[in-house]
Amino acid sequence: MTERVRVGHEAALIEGSQTEVQVGGVGVVVVRYEGQFYALRNNCTHKDYPLLGGDVGAGRITCEKHGAKFELSTGKPKTLPAVKPVKLYRTEVDGGEVYVLPL
Ligand code: FES
Repeated sequence: MTERVRVGHEAALIEGSQTEVQVGGVGVVVVRYEGQFYALRNNCTHKDYPLLGGDVGAGRITCEKHGAKFELSTGKPKTLPAVKPVKLYRTEVDGGEVYVLPL
């Protein structure tokens, strides 16, 4: 079983921040959006392009390669060209630290 992975201090991960961590050898992008933490595999399902650094708005992160948008809370694609969901991870805040775990 994969252990939880520390992302950083909650206070340091400011609104709109994006951080990549490795969970079980897989890159995961952690986004703070409207105060909540969301974690998705850092790969667009269209052409294996990193999501890190993509625009975030309306609860979605945009792949900068061709513009697909994925819902942060579900990983589901909301616009083409992506049709498959991005793998979602769980986040938790414990003692002021943010962690990511496999779902
Ligand atoms: S690689 Fe992400 S939309 Fe094409």
